[in-house]
Amino acid sequence: MERLQKVIAHAGIASRRKAEALILEGKVKVNGKVVKELGVKVSNTDRVEVEGVPLEKEQPVYFLFYKPRGVISSVSDEKGRKTVMDFFPQIKERIYPVGRLDYDTSGLLLLTNDGEFANLLMHPRNEIEKEYIAKVKGIPLRENLRSLEKGMMLEDGKTAPARTKVISVDKKKGTAIVQLTIHEGKNRQVRRMFEAIGHPVLKLRRERYAFLTLRGLKAGETRELTGHEVKQLRFLAESN
Ligand code: URA
Repeated sequence: MERLQKVIAHAGIASRRKAEALILEGKVKVNGKVVKELGVKVSNTDRVEVEGVPLEKEQPVYFLFYKPRGVISSVSDEKGRKTVMDFFPQIKERIYPVGRLDYDTSGLLLLTNDGEFANLLMHPRNEIEKEYIAKVKGIPLRENLRSLEKGMMLEDGKTAPARTKVISVDKKKGTAIVQLTIHEGKNRQVRRMFEAIGHPVLKLRRERYAFLTLRGLKAGETRELTGHEVKQLRFLAESN
């Protein structure tokens, strides 16, 4: 189920704000009845009409993107920074990212125009696994990593148990490369977890999202997900 104004916006008819105005003006019908409230949610099977014209649904599209560092994970930026949309100039559908990666984080990001699919994947209950490779300052001790693994208190609550693996250490430079696997998506979670054990992140890349990896892509490149991958992701999320 999705909010009516979002469905209208995604159909490419109007911006979210204009869609809200159309609803309030009584110009939108759902299953033949005028809807004037903004809170109403509709599903794929509901018939939506705007000013008497049935909505033509955009075909759902699904992309995997290797986000470079220095790119913002939203569709526009008031500061004029590069956004993920700059990498999809040929796409006419209104796609947007499934979750976010920080401006300075690189790695795997999904984009779609399928709101139900995005909500399903982002719902914390569905516990999609994400694997990060972090270059951290200092060389964490086993007991430091144990506290990441057990779950730790951050200012917005306790993190769920995670997995860690030290990939390499550079004793001369005093840095380490650590793999961290989590299934939550708190804001700046990986950076805050390492910060909390006294090993701030110097560089961060998301390597894996569920069973999807960056294999075959360079930073800045995209590919469409296959129908099978989309089904598998849906199945994975729904079975948790
Ligand atoms: N955790 C972070 O700290 N940053 C990201 O971009 C993703 C996860």
